[in-house]
Amino acid sequence: MELRHFLQFKDFSREEFDYLFERSRWIKDKFKRYEPYHPLFDRTLVMIFEKASTRTRLSFEAGMQQLGGSAIYLNTRDSQLGRGEPVEDAAQVISRMSDIVMIRTFEQDIIERFAAHSRVPVINGLTNEYHPCQILADIFTYIEHRGSIRGKTVAWVGDSNNMCNTWLQAAEVLDFNVHVSTPPGYEVEPERAGLYGTGHFEQFADPMQACKGADLVTTDVWTSMGFEAENEARMKAFADWCVDAEMMAVAAPDALFMHCLPAHRGEEVTAEVIDGPQSVVWDEAENRLHVQKALLEFLLLGRVKA
Ligand code: CP
Ligand code: NVA
Repeated sequence: MELRHFLQFKDFSREEFDYLFERSRWIKDKFKRYEPYHPLFDRTLVMIFEKASTRTRLSFEAGMQQLGGSAIYLNTRDSQLGRGEPVEDAAQVISRMSDIVMIRTFEQDIIERFAAHSRVPVINGLTNEYHPCQILADIFTYIEHRGSIRGKTVAWVGDSNNMCNTWLQAAEVLDFNVHVSTPPGYEVEPERAGLYGTGHFEQFADPMQACKGADLVTTDVWTSMGFEAENEARMKAFADWCVDAEMMAVAAPDALFMHCLPAHRGEEVTAEVIDGPQSVVWDEAENRLHVQKALLEFLLLGRVKA
């Protein structure tokens, strides 16, 4: 089988995502019926964390076990990764002892180098630049609630971070639009976002304009992991980029609200919105489990169903 990685959203085609969403549905339904499904019996996932996590660790670890395999957790503090072992050497060793690897790290370059020296598939569990597993879950969640995302408009309010970049890549692959509003100085950098430049996004100075008529409004923390030194400046710069009821009111009447979590109520979103009726944040979090099980199955077994 051809070795595939999921390092950024554009690594897969629209047709492959359609397959993954269909498998996610099947795997989720089976799980909800308490029917065991162990296609990854005896397979081992290694999870490497250089940053904190609740959802990503839990969903990968539980997901791998539910599929009949096992998961091993490594972090920078307790492994040689934190003591300067070259990432290329680590990749050689780790991929000889496991079947698949998930990494959460800093620069995208680190995961690209790891994958280039790995014998097994590598999954991006978040880098400074991208968070493709989260967007996989978010789009699956959108489909569950509203049907196809094709041709829809997503409003991104806040930082042009790893989540924003991945939404922008997804828009190009799956053919929808993203309206981005960031404070001045924090705008999207199309090259860093890895865009083909197919014109699927527009930038707005005013977040209200970005939200106008949107089918989905989404945001994320003002300060991502690894950027803590900028926190004070960001708190000032982002003060007007808080998703509130007024923003939701100018979006489409049936607009959804999403946030990858963890969230800071009163900063990037009001409690009224994140805890309100348009919010689907708990479904988003749960769906990490189901879509990543489909992803693990796809990378290890290929297509199991025509
Ligand atoms: N959304 C997300 O990736 O959460 P964690 O940081 O808890 O893994
Ligand atoms: N943008 C956030 C997402 C956390 C899941 C971060 O990188 O910290």
